[in-house]
Amino acid sequence: MVEWTDFERATIVDIFSKMQYEVVGPAALARCLIVYPWTQRYFGNFGNLYNAAAISGNPMVAKHGTTILHGLDRAVKNMDDIKSTYAELSVLHSEKLHVDPDNFKLLSDCLTIVVAAQLGKEFTGKVQAAFQKFLAVVVSSLGRQYH
Ligand code: HEM
Repeated sequence: MVEWTDFERATIVDIFSKMQYEVVGPAALARCLIVYPWTQRYFGNFGNLYNAAAISGNPMVAKHGTTILHGLDRAVKNMDDIKSTYAELSVLHSEKLHVDPDNFKLLSDCLTIVVAAQLGKEFTGKVQAAFQKFLAVVVSSLGRQYH
């Protein structure tokens, strides 16, 4: 079981309570699709992902980026049991969507960069450490049901 300090718990709750899901989610997913173009293969039904401008302006990318953040919200609310919280979502990504689990880390790094840009000076090393620990647990939990 993952242990969280009071600081880590407070930091994660604070970051998500201030976060505009419909801004940060789309920006993080768009960045992932731009920086790691092979991740586009999973979104063949999303229409035009032809270049960075098209990806950033694509309403399906925006909608799905927001969905992902709502998915993360479930981990924030269940910090002591992230693995079972994500059991079903892990099965979905592995068995139905066939998403290579390495991509979870790529998306989480893009999310860190977007959050860092939004928080500016508030995103201290300690805050980053807490945020990345949280995302590492999310990434590992989402990868749990892969065989
Ligand atoms: C669907 C969460 C990472 C590809 C979903 C859904 C959620 C979610 C909540 C909707 C599930 C449903 O409809 O029941 C997350 C979280 C991630 C993550 C929390 C990591 C932080 C990724 C990555 C990829 C990916 C890295 C691919 C590169 C997909 C696809 C769908 C999906 C293709 C179905 C989209 C559709 O057609 O509507 N994800 N996801 N996910 N996810 Fe993820």
